[in-house]
Amino acid sequence: METVFSGIQPSGEMHLGNYLGAVRNWVALQDQYRCFFCVVDYHAITQDYERDALSRQTLEMATDLIACGIDPERSVVFVQSSVAEHTELCWILDTVTPFGELGRMTQFKDKSAKQADNINAGLFSYPVLQTADIILYKASLVPVGADQVQHLELAREIVRRFNKRWGDYFPEPQALLSSTPRILGLDGQAKMSKSLGNTIALGEADEPIRKRLATAATDPQRVRRKDPGDPEVCNLHTLHTFFSDEERLEWVRSGCRTADIGCFECKSALADNLIAHLQVIRERRAELQAQPGRIEEILREGARKAREVARQTIDEVRDHIGLWG
Ligand code: TRP
Repeated sequence: METVFSGIQPSGEMHLGNYLGAVRNWVALQDQYRCFFCVVDYHAITQDYERDALSRQTLEMATDLIACGIDPERSVVFVQSSVAEHTELCWILDTVTPFGELGRMTQFKDKSAKQADNINAGLFSYPVLQTADIILYKASLVPVGADQVQHLELAREIVRRFNKRWGDYFPEPQALLSSTPRILGLDGQAKMSKSLGNTIALGEADEPIRKRLATAATDPQRVRRKDPGDPEVCNLHTLHTFFSDEERLEWVRSGCRTADIGCFECKSALADNLIAHLQVIRERRAELQAQPGRIEEILREGARKAREVARQTIDEVRDHIGLWG
């Protein structure tokens, strides 16, 4: 059975972009693959973060993963920094990672621009740790969004260099891109992202969800109620495709094109269906939160299982590259 690995940053509550773009697919992959899902707190600390919020956000993200349907009985769910082997392998991989390639990573450049007073070496070698995450479990498939493709290409390059220098050992991992259309934020401009404040969190209450949708950007051609629009360019139509049935979608599409319905009606139909969908996730989250210590227990058990595999890999790698002991 092939192995799948993916990671998510503990950015706080999961939002619709995380869910639709990644986590929903992870849930489906559990049926076919041996899966590892990791909350990557070591990656998070390369960016500016709030010290007092990190561990709470890590638990929240793990809780949301499970509430969304990641099943700890079938998948290994754990926190990156609980398994020291990630950083151990990272160092070894550092020695076969081309310096120049790291400097060419778009995310490194973007993040460096965003935090010009904190361009640290961790930010630079972020993709090396990401590679270690994946290949520690010899994962061959990595479900990620399009923004991670460059990191995955570098991961493959690092593996090739490792195998060339020390002899074949690691399989080359491959990005598994979902067919999910790009989910823009509510501003209709940029990717949904917590730091841009253009998201809907999965845990948000009904009223705030309705309010946020009400002000969300739609097809800019629809300035007045009677202006017809094009659902294909409207981010809210994209959201409808996830949460509304065929009949509703048809109503949205034709109503928008003919201006039979206004954006307001379209948005309130979306809000109804979205809220109904989120209800299931909310109930599962509430159930988990009603059991004190349950999520911690799941993560400890996940770390134990992950460590078993990771330790084996490190022991083999140490021997493979000629380290003493
Ligand atoms: N860099 C990824 C992101 O920001 C998170 C991540 C860390 C990851 N390690 C990973 C994703 C390993 C896939 C595999 O989305």
